[in-house]
Amino acid sequence: MFFVFDGMDGSGKTTQLNRFADWLESQGKSVVTAKDPGTTKLGEDLRSILLTDSGTPISMRAEMMLFTTARTQLVEEVIRPALTQGQVVVLDRYVLSTVVYQGHAGNLQPDEIRTINNLATGGLWPELTFVLDVPLDVAMKRLGDDLDRMESRGAEYFQKVREGFLCEAKACDRTVVIDAAQQPDNVAAAILAATGGINGVG
Ligand code: TYD
Repeated sequence: MFFVFDGMDGSGKTTQLNRFADWLESQGKSVVTAKDPGTTKLGEDLRSILLTDSGTPISMRAEMMLFTTARTQLVEEVIRPALTQGQVVVLDRYVLSTVVYQGHAGNLQPDEIRTINNLATGGLWPELTFVLDVPLDVAMKRLGDDLDRMESRGAEYFQKVREGFLCEAKACDRTVVIDAAQQPDNVAAAILAATGGINGVG
């Protein structure tokens, strides 16, 4: 089983991902959590290039390819081996982030990004993606002032990110929007409720 947590920076997805992983473990599952981009050595190196503002110009298309390359390594080194062993994988971001941040908000074609990522991941798609949604002002407040290269893109970019996630969730199967502006316990309960239709969970 393969689950993805996605959403805007400041949506609280990492906290909820950890709670969900703990819950799966309490149900007797063997769980692997990972971060996209990250977790592998190559992924961490690319993450540092992508998130640190070092002054190196990176075009939107190059940025899209770098996020995608980090993902290829993560799929091959971590996700596929875990799934093959019957473990449950819970991932912090995946292809949908690229479709939204570099597509909807970055003006690349979402369909092209999906096609490239289908190739890059060997056609590996999650059973269920949770999109944690919060209003822009809530997300910005949670982020504070210490912003990385991506987080410094400003309110207009992030408004497009939010709308992109909502638009994709509406159009895509197996993608559910969770209201993440509620109390954390209520967010966690909404996430569990959304897994109701998945065989073998709970
Ligand atoms: P994230 O790991 O959620 O950041 P943090 O740990 O700081 O909360 O995401 C890293 C940033 O990269 C975030 O701003 C979203 C962005 N991103 C993209 O623009 N495209 C992508 O394909 C992915 C996976 C992330």
